[in-house]
Amino acid sequence: MVLIAHLSDLHVGAINHMEKTLLDAIARINGMNPDLVVITGDLTENGYYLEFLKAREYLDLIENPLMVVPGNHDARHVGNETFEEIFHDRSSTLTNDNGDLTIIGLDSSEPDLDYGKVGRQQQIWMEKELLKAQKNNQYKIIALHHHIIPVPKTGRERNVLADAGDILQSLTDKNVDMVISGHKHVPHVWRVEKTVFVTAGTVSSLKLRGKDKNSFNTYKIEEDVLEINLNQVYGKKYLMARYDDKCGI
Ligand SMILES: [Fe+2]
Ligand SMILES: [Fe+2]
Repeated sequence: MVLIAHLSDLHVGAINHMEKTLLDAIARINGMNPDLVVITGDLTENGYYLEFLKAREYLDLIENPLMVVPGNHDARHVGNETFEEIFHDRSSTLTNDNGDLTIIGLDSSEPDLDYGKVGRQQQIWMEKELLKAQKNNQYKIIALHHHIIPVPKTGRERNVLADAGDILQSLTDKNVDMVISGHKHVPHVWRVEKTVFVTAGTVSSLKLRGKDKNSFNTYKIEEDVLEINLNQVYGKKYLMARYDDKCGI
């Protein structure tokens, strides 16, 4: 069994960023002892250097292996360069200890713009990484900030990935198991062919839809079973989806 914690949209530095909520979420995640932790962007509000330093301070509290990818807010004010200095490459991979699962993180941000794009060069890199993972018989997860498929009840669609069609085809052709993203601050699950697309809510920003609460997702991947849970930071844990048709490791 592999357990993954997925959080998104911290927005450190925003007036509506809730520090205590983030610290409590991190404490809960540490208590779960997941195999891997992934953060799908908008770590900061404005991409400022000091915001990145503060975000790093919070994320250093996470006790398990961590991958982060940048969001549109992180790419403001040359945050795309700062991201690499404070964290790691904007595109990266992370594999679990057993080596049976790999996460490929993509940078879908564009400097000082809100829309997202993977781009041809990064798509080629992603396809090479997916081929490697396929050869090694690994469970394949793609992590990126922008959603590839529109999320219901989030108003007029503006920021879906500009090259969503090309990337969607590549992901389903290459039999990616899961695609995880953030950006809309609204948790949702779609499934296209055999690929499951999950968006996370915001873990610590008050930019919430209706009565939504701050939350993070957890993925329990067992033999032939994938369980997707939404964990409210203060409140309940909800089962978002469960697939048992050979969807697991
Ligand atoms: Fe956000
Ligand atoms: Fe965003």
